[in-house]
Amino acid sequence: MSKEQTTYIGPEGVIEKRKQYFFPCTHHFYRNPPQIVRGSMQYLYDEKGTQYTDFFAGVSVVASGHCNPAITGATIKQLETLQHTTTIYLTQPMVDLAERLANGVLPGDLKRTFFCNSGSEANEGAMLLARLHTKRRNFIALEYGLHGRTFLTMGVTGIPMWRADDYLDSGVTFIPRPYNPETDDETAARRSIEALKQVLEEKGDTFAAMLVEPIQGNGGMIAPPDWYFREVKALLEEHGVLMIADEIQTGFGRTGRIFAMEHYGVVPDIISMAKALGNGVPIGAFATTDEIAASFNRASASTFGGNPVSSVTALAVLDYIEQEDLVGRAERLGNQLKSGLQALQAKHAVLVDVRGKGMMLGAELHGTDEQDSAALTDRVLEAMKDRGYIIGKNGIGRNVLAFQPPLVMTEQDIEGMLKELDAVLAEAVQ
Ligand SMILES: Cc1ncc(COP(=O)(O)O)c(C=O)c1O
Repeated sequence: MSKEQTTYIGPEGVIEKRKQYFFPCTHHFYRNPPQIVRGSMQYLYDEKGTQYTDFFAGVSVVASGHCNPAITGATIKQLETLQHTTTIYLTQPMVDLAERLANGVLPGDLKRTFFCNSGSEANEGAMLLARLHTKRRNFIALEYGLHGRTFLTMGVTGIPMWRADDYLDSGVTFIPRPYNPETDDETAARRSIEALKQVLEEKGDTFAAMLVEPIQGNGGMIAPPDWYFREVKALLEEHGVLMIADEIQTGFGRTGRIFAMEHYGVVPDIISMAKALGNGVPIGAFATTDEIAASFNRASASTFGGNPVSSVTALAVLDYIEQEDLVGRAERLGNQLKSGLQALQAKHAVLVDVRGKGMMLGAELHGTDEQDSAALTDRVLEAMKDRGYIIGKNGIGRNVLAFQPPLVMTEQDIEGMLKELDAVLAEAVQ
């Protein structure tokens, strides 16, 4: 559909086609959803020309802004020059991107990258790498984590709603996450460590790796205490178990650091990446050290992994993040957004918790019971959309407002949203 086209089938038309031609597993947000037809930096536009300020960035993807000309310029030029050859032939963008990641983006001595097309694929590859390196089969994961849609990655996904397959791999041990609404964060994190210790003592030598999101996104924006991942890493090392940091939502500046694991002072053995690296162009990757990468010497290839279009785009994204200091910006704007949300928490009894880091924040809503909390959240999201603000939703009870906006957003955008949210929260409980 060209940019100039002005006749759209409208939300009803899109919904009808989804009903006819999609699988019933796919859902959409909102009772009255708009048809989104255009994006420009932190703004989205529907078929009627209504502007929405986007606080979700397509689930933490478009961190550098929708259709950012500083990035799409490079993408379009590459599209017109060379789109695809596959890794069998020599092209430069993919090696330039791997070099760029190794020099100043990846932490510690993480240096080698394998490119693929999505977050699920990145985690799947990271898990295969861990098995090849350790010659062990099993995995540890945190309860309520989300790692993907493929067989292995769905197996380590701990959110019941995203475990669609009844026959998932049995070699996964879940331990409690470092968060429990029944207790304080320190106690919950301590319990999680104790559970990990026990599992490692019982059968540590069966595990290839533990997968962790530094901040659980879909699980409801859970940022563990500062010490937590250091203790996890030390325990895993004692038992020769690798740590895979799933930075698919958290990576590339989102939390006020290039990678969120930096907040915890931990360098994982393997990092998986996707989403914001392509800013909307499909890309996935996992990276590791020379030593671990050396174990992946059986033949493997991805048809589209490292294709010139995605690679050139990712290089432009990394340039843009650096030039515009999006990492510093995420920290600064995140502080503004967090204190604004906390002020609303002090005022509205239904807003019970504000958590997260940088521009990855969650605001938990409570109604009279679990069902009411989810319904209240949906009402707030609908009303905010009607007032021109797109906010995400996550959490196990689907009652956490998710704020993961493009990092190019301004202070005024945040102020405007907070003002409307204040009014909507007051209305939503009446
Ligand atoms: C933390 C995390 N890991 C993995 C994935 C899977 O990524 P994809 O949907 O690109 O396969 C997601 C998707 O939201 C995610 O949030």
